[in-house]
Amino acid sequence: MKIAVLPGDGIGPEIVAEAVKVLRALELPLEMEEAPVGGAAYEASGHPLPPSTLALAKNADAVLFGAVGDWKYDKLERALRPEQAILGLRKELGLFANFRPAVCYKELTHASSLKPELVAGLDILIIRELTGDIYFGQPRGRRTAVDGHFPGSEEAFDTMRYSKPEIERIAHVAFQAARQRSKRVTSVDKANVLETFQFWKDVVTEVHAQYPDVELDHMYVDNAAMQLVKAPKRFDVVVTGNMFGDILSDEAAMLTGSIGMLPSASLNARNQGLYEPSHGSAPDIAGQGVANPLATILSAAMMLRYSLQRPDAADRIESAVGAVLAAGLRTPDIWSEGATKVGTRAMGDAVVEAITGKTITIKTKKS
Ligand code: IPM
Ligand code: MG
Repeated sequence: MKIAVLPGDGIGPEIVAEAVKVLRALELPLEMEEAPVGGAAYEASGHPLPPSTLALAKNADAVLFGAVGDWKYDKLERALRPEQAILGLRKELGLFANFRPAVCYKELTHASSLKPELVAGLDILIIRELTGDIYFGQPRGRRTAVDGHFPGSEEAFDTMRYSKPEIERIAHVAFQAARQRSKRVTSVDKANVLETFQFWKDVVTEVHAQYPDVELDHMYVDNAAMQLVKAPKRFDVVVTGNMFGDILSDEAAMLTGSIGMLPSASLNARNQGLYEPSHGSAPDIAGQGVANPLATILSAAMMLRYSLQRPDAADRIESAVGAVLAAGLRTPDIWSEGATKVGTRAMGDAVVEAITGKTITIKTKKS
């Protein structure tokens, strides 16, 4: 099983190193090869997604990805910015199905910005379509307006579009995922305004006919944003387009109070996948050894489950993470009074110890 390891920028290298350590501890036949991506790759070779990195990713069964981006690249032309690496990988590998779980761990209920009773036991799965919509729709660009409110002035435009097969395949993914959970899907759209999302709603409804055992409801995106903070536990599987999914998944992640805990998976039709934490590169804390590696470690678990067909190994990682939380270990982002503050490496070590069945020894970080 080949894994391309792409640490990227900011805290990426630190957290990926811990996930790699955890994967090694499983003693599976995993071949891991590392390559630069994002700002790091731009510095090294002038492009955020060099051909050699892309080739490594394409030839792997799975990609373990850290994070990309730094404010210092904001002035580069768009094609050279670190974010293009992740967009390029999604497009080139055809990673259309993005799974973003938002789970509130019982030990971290109080870290949420919402009242504990609203989030206790929260377990939502956002399924975001990842290779279509206004993110990739052509044409896009800048030009002189010939109509609209100010003809003759400069304007910019993007194209929101979805083809029927694109909607069908993500709808199938959502209904099948729901069958493994509580058999409920909420499809989020903006059918009251946008033609693209009236079509989305129609196609999802049509696909639903093949899943009579799954309950489907439809919700406008503005209402979904509101319901996520009002009564988040009403959701189970949420399926939506690329743009709405980007926004709602950040909102849902924040409800759990622990974005440092949330993994994600992006899969193509062959189950080849890219696995990354839901959080970003956090350049403000990079290199300090304080970043939470658990989202990346849990992403490695998702990788074993979805792309490498080793659910047993995924379970081992997930229960090890449960064990370190239960033992009271916390990186600063999830720390609260009474818990033991640890750094990135000590957290990774503790997960390894839990996997290999040793008692967890605590190397605390001075705070
Ligand atoms: C995400 C990120 C990306 C996106 C950026 C970095 C291009 O926000 O994965 O949610 O918008 O998809
Ligand atoms: Mg986002």
